[in-house]
Amino acid sequence: MDIFLDTADVKEIEQGVKWGLVDGVTTNPTLLARTGKSFEEVVPRIVELVDGPISLEVISEDSEGMLAEARRLREIHENVVVKIPMTEEGIVATRKCAEEGIPVNVTLVFTPTQALFAAKAGAAYVSPFIGRLDDISTEGMDIVEQIMTIFFNYDYETRVIVASVRNPVHVLQAALVGADIVTMPFATMKALFKHPLTDIGVKKFLEDYSKIPKR
Ligand code: E4P
Repeated sequence: MDIFLDTADVKEIEQGVKWGLVDGVTTNPTLLARTGKSFEEVVPRIVELVDGPISLEVISEDSEGMLAEARRLREIHENVVVKIPMTEEGIVATRKCAEEGIPVNVTLVFTPTQALFAAKAGAAYVSPFIGRLDDISTEGMDIVEQIMTIFFNYDYETRVIVASVRNPVHVLQAALVGADIVTMPFATMKALFKHPLTDIGVKKFLEDYSKIPKR
């Protein structure tokens, strides 16, 4: 399973890259705004740090505007994947991007049939938002399984990015259903390292090591 960081925070990405765990990055306008820095300050650094797909989202609402933005975003770097929302205009733009060879991550996907439309339009990736579904008392991970079944049934090559991840259990569930990719916040990546018995074990081994007679 590929692991992406769902952040625009350069320090978090630096740490994730140091761990060797970052296969790609997803951003959105909210995550960029959270950094308090400009697009021009943050994006070139992310592109420098990460050797893998980097999703950057369009803000236009019409397909022509989205396509123009997509072309501009792709000029930044060949690893840039253009994130386009799952709207009627978004699907038109996705198809045009696909025809031009621009990889698209269709975002804000909440149903398996939205994902089907995205795949039909030629999206390279779809991002089902499982946390936001869980937030409204729906089992988010169910749609990931259904999307994967649909893609398998019709041999779509569109890759599934499990998004809107909130905790380590989401990552476990994504891995168990065999999702292609999970994009997670830095806090979730950090939490995945942790187990109290690991910490206790390390402490005990160090204590016992000090008891070994030294020659
Ligand atoms: C996905 O690509 C989005 O950036 C992200 O996962 C949204 O997560 P949220 O629901 O926590 O905002």
